[in-house]
Amino acid sequence: MKKLLLHGSIITALLLTGCNSQETTDDTGQGVTGNSQACEQEYFDTSVSSTLNSCVSCHSSGGQASTTQLILLSPVTDNKSANYNTLKNYIQLAGSQLVEKASGAVAHGGGVQLTGTPKDNMEEFVGYVKGTGQCISTTLSTSLLNTSVELLSASKTLRNASYTIQGRAPSADEVSSVNTIEDIDAKLDEYMKSEAFNEWLRLSFNDFLLTDFYKPGRRGEDLLNSTDFPQKRWWVEYSNTDGYRGLDDYTNYAISREAIELIVHVIQEDRPFSEILTADYVMVNPFSAKTYDINIDNFTYVYEQNVTRAYIEQKYPQDSFREGKIDAIPHAGLLSTITYLNRFPSTNTNLDRHRSAKTQLFFLDTDILGLANRPINSTEVLSDTATWTNPNCTVCHNVMEPISSAFKKLG
Ligand code: HEC
Ligand code: HEC
Repeated sequence: MKKLLLHGSIITALLLTGCNSQETTDDTGQGVTGNSQACEQEYFDTSVSSTLNSCVSCHSSGGQASTTQLILLSPVTDNKSANYNTLKNYIQLAGSQLVEKASGAVAHGGGVQLTGTPKDNMEEFVGYVKGTGQCISTTLSTSLLNTSVELLSASKTLRNASYTIQGRAPSADEVSSVNTIEDIDAKLDEYMKSEAFNEWLRLSFNDFLLTDFYKPGRRGEDLLNSTDFPQKRWWVEYSNTDGYRGLDDYTNYAISREAIELIVHVIQEDRPFSEILTADYVMVNPFSAKTYDINIDNFTYVYEQNVTRAYIEQKYPQDSFREGKIDAIPHAGLLSTITYLNRFPSTNTNLDRHRSAKTQLFFLDTDILGLANRPINSTEVLSDTATWTNPNCTVCHNVMEPISSAFKKLG
């Protein structure tokens, strides 16, 4: 994570620095003027030649356009140079008519054959041949780029990193303590321990997990099944008394935050990030620990008579989270938390497919809906095993179902 951020800021630094105003010179030290044949030919080879695939069927000997002045060869490598000369000669003769005809701007026997980027590239090429555009070779532009970008200074990089990670400017002392990019490493460690960074993590991960939906007011605890969790709503017997009315909210708070607090925990403990999906525990606060019947000395909430709300909040902060293991549940990191399972629910016909599709989208870089086109002709679906047997369905369903099955027992 830290490496990612550091690279991110270096890239930003590069972008911000951009090109400085170095003189554009070629190898001989002369300013680049005119268009060398080598440059034009390079541009033709990389950006124009393949477009001729859509012309050659007619514009070749024997084709529909065989009586015109534009006769091309199939644009394979061996013919590139011949086609380059043909096109160049044609442009010298007829100029922008090449693009106008092919794009249908003027009547063209072949209709509209040139649009979008291929059209822009062809226009660019016409400009080079006519001398109205300047051809800059890719080799030269790469070396120009290399000489014209520089790294941001250490203090500016620190400033960018501080804004990104903690949302504030670095103090004067922090700035004076870094002289080289390497010094920033220790500062990043420090920034990533800050509460502001944790808040940013919570916000960012909730953007797709959506589990904060269950934060107090929505009763995340009610999602639990009372056979598996007989201690559910343990606070009811106290909730009529002043001082204890918050117990319910503190409990829901923790249950809604299980997935997100797990992510924060794994990052803060510097564990392998995969643990967010493999953790054999759930994050609990003193109150949800009670719901799950997890008794941790000096952590799990213990009822005391006649105390104030302030006393409870001070002794058992709702934001204090720990790892807890529920014996009856096979934990699978955030995937087995009750809020994840309810945000991405299953039904009798969906059969955990939604969970599989979302899990693959979020964590396995696989967008199942992008694997093939839909809708599919409904007459394709004649058998009741289409999702296993019809190739129009298996293209997606074979990728999806194995992971759906893994969710089966999680309710
Ligand atoms: C389906 C066949 C067909 C395709 C494909 C086709 N053309 Fe043509 N083209 C014609 C015909 C027929 C003519 C002659 C009639 C006319 O001038 O419109 C022609 C004429 C031209 C001319 C005028 C030639 C002259 O004698 O001055 C140009 C330029 C041209 N096409 C460019 C292109 C380019 C570039 C492409 C590919 C991007 C292309 N055409 C694709 C059929 C085609
Ligand atoms: C482009 C990929 C794709 C193709 C092709 C595809 N599916 Fe699906 N299908 C999905 C995804 C993704 C879901 C889960 C959607 C969700 O709930 O998020 C799904 C869900 C389903 C469901 C459960 C619907 C529900 O929510 O109750 C059925 C039934 C289904 N597909 C049948 C088929 C059949 C039959 C075919 C072939 C004719 C087919 N699918 C082709 C991606 C695909």
